[in-house]
Amino acid sequence: MLFSYYDDDYRNYQASNLPMTHANLSPVIQRPRRLRRTPALRRMVEETQLTVNDLIYPLFVMEGEGQKVEVVSMPGSYRYSLDLLLKEIEDAYNLGINAIALFPLVAEAKKDNVGTESYNSEGLIQRTVRAIKQTIPDIVVITDVALDPYSSEGHDGIVGENGVILNDPTVEVLVKQALSHAEAGADIVAPSDMMDGRIGAIRKALDAAEYSDVGILAYSAKYASAYYGPFRDALDSAPKFGDKKTYQMDSANAREALKEVALDIAEGADMVMVKPALAYLDIICEVKKTTNLPVAAYNVSGEYAMIKAAGQKGWIDEKKVMLETLTSMKRAGADLILTYFAKEVALILK
Ligand code: PBG
Repeated sequence: MLFSYYDDDYRNYQASNLPMTHANLSPVIQRPRRLRRTPALRRMVEETQLTVNDLIYPLFVMEGEGQKVEVVSMPGSYRYSLDLLLKEIEDAYNLGINAIALFPLVAEAKKDNVGTESYNSEGLIQRTVRAIKQTIPDIVVITDVALDPYSSEGHDGIVGENGVILNDPTVEVLVKQALSHAEAGADIVAPSDMMDGRIGAIRKALDAAEYSDVGILAYSAKYASAYYGPFRDALDSAPKFGDKKTYQMDSANAREALKEVALDIAEGADMVMVKPALAYLDIICEVKKTTNLPVAAYNVSGEYAMIKAAGQKGWIDEKKVMLETLTSMKRAGADLILTYFAKEVALILK
């Protein structure tokens, strides 16, 4: 169509090896800047809006009372005892944040290799979920399903001989953990462990126990990433030996992410996640193209720490970099963003 109007241009274009654009073909100069001239024009053509509805606020809970302890490598993020956590969640809810994701700091004495504490019905997470549901019942409570905060080895699964992470025995524990979260009142369980087959096993068990309304947010494409460092400080959960590369993905791989996503969807995931987010925007984009399920992205602890650190040094404009970064995740295709910045963003958007 276009070419029939500009036969000479088409011949020139074919000869030129240039990428085909309208500008190559048109005799008139194109002026995209027209639509950037004023704030109102720019707002009219803005393609992506970050809203408070996109945000999930990850929170660290610890034992005790009156405790609010800053995570050294995550300035402005805290571990809260339950009483102060409830206040923080209330604040977040009043700012319009719909959902929180909970992570526990577990006492060393309660850790073992098989993560027994993870499905204790009186455990920290279970008590926390019950208390939240009593005080702020409307907020969506997402719980993390994995063994690492409970593991004496700091791994997401049970460690067998020669340091091998045992898949199927771990899935059995993850199922118990997910059931105990559902029993406590979690709206959504979020397996972050990367064991094979866990989504299907958890879905079956939830349905059999009449928790068919409890959803699953699958950490589907979760990479073995150095960006998790500050999170592991927050929870004292760094691996005691080796790394997580036999279960979390190689950062060089993209097709494999689509395989993981497809498996989790087939097994019954309600939402899928890409994690980390910033260094994996291409993965978010590819995943978004393959599914109609909501896609979540996790703006992880190391991404948060980098912005905070440079901001504190006065080397970047922290708030602007934060908004630009989160908007890039939405633009890449994320419907939901887990971010430690959630409250700060909600305040700005208000
Ligand atoms: C645990 C888990 C981790 C994170 C979320 N859930 C750490 C890990 O896999 O080692 C990281 C979150 C962050 O860095 O903000 N399975």
